[in-house]
Amino acid sequence: MNPKPPTMKEDRQKKLTAFKLLKPIAYLLLLLLSFTLGYLSSPSSPTTPSFSPPTPQLPQLLDRLFNSPSPFVNFPPPYATPLLRRSRVKGWGSNGPVFQNLIQKVQPKTIIEIGTFLGASAIHMAGLTSQLGLKDTQILCLDDFRGWPGFRAQFGGLGPRSGDVLLLYQFMQNVVSVNATETVLPIPFSTGSGLDWLCKMGVYGDLIEVDAGHDFNSAWSDIIRAYRILRPGGVIFGHDYFTAADDHGVRRAVTLFARVYGLKIKVDGQHWVIESS
Ligand SMILES: C[S@@+](CC[C@H](N)C(=O)[O-])C[C@H]1O[C@@H](n2cnc3c(N)ncnc32)[C@H](O)[C@@H]1O
Repeated sequence: MNPKPPTMKEDRQKKLTAFKLLKPIAYLLLLLLSFTLGYLSSPSSPTTPSFSPPTPQLPQLLDRLFNSPSPFVNFPPPYATPLLRRSRVKGWGSNGPVFQNLIQKVQPKTIIEIGTFLGASAIHMAGLTSQLGLKDTQILCLDDFRGWPGFRAQFGGLGPRSGDVLLLYQFMQNVVSVNATETVLPIPFSTGSGLDWLCKMGVYGDLIEVDAGHDFNSAWSDIIRAYRILRPGGVIFGHDYFTAADDHGVRRAVTLFARVYGLKIKVDGQHWVIESS
């Protein structure tokens, strides 16, 4: 006896069941296919994502800071001229080999110096970049140019005039005297507000030197703020690693910083050095 042919309803039911079974298989196949394509199109070895933050153009920074193409335009102002010496530089460990070692190694385009005083280390770095043929290097010198309470006892002749100590102008005059006004630029603010401003402006340093306050809190805050604007692969370093001030405040800050960020401290003369990678 011939089997009974399926009715139309049974036929539709069968097709529906087959479709329900096929649907998850199709999803699975699609998933496998996209995974395989993704795997095949990925690079054969893992690569480090390259990150090179842009630096704003110098004229833009100068305009924001000084409303002028350069603070050295019409410098010195007539009232300050008789108060300045042609050149008067004084520093501490400002010509140490660490400067040459790091500039040679990093070949920095932007150096940020935190704590400049009369410019001994900044002027030394300007000389080194010029000797090494680094024509475009810019050295940004962040200092409130107020020194510290009582510093005039060691440095007679630097004011005060109407409460000012003339440090900024004597520093600028020192820069003029070595013809480095295209390379060395003052940023005359406190380290806290200056570093935050640089960060806001998107300015990154390839090489950052920390040499302002030597107590723990100042060094800690300067290093933390400076690290935020250190270009990946750059180097941060600082003076007075061995100074006893504030119970070795600088060394305590550097040690804590390195521990928190998992970085290695090297020592070069009187300086500590930390490479970001
Ligand atoms: C040791 S001197 C810098 C010496 C310089 N690096 C050199 O080798 O010739 C320290 C400088 O840091 C500056 N300074 C200290 N604390 C500061 C702060 N909170 N903001 C801005 N400048 C500060 C002082 O005005 C002083 O000029």
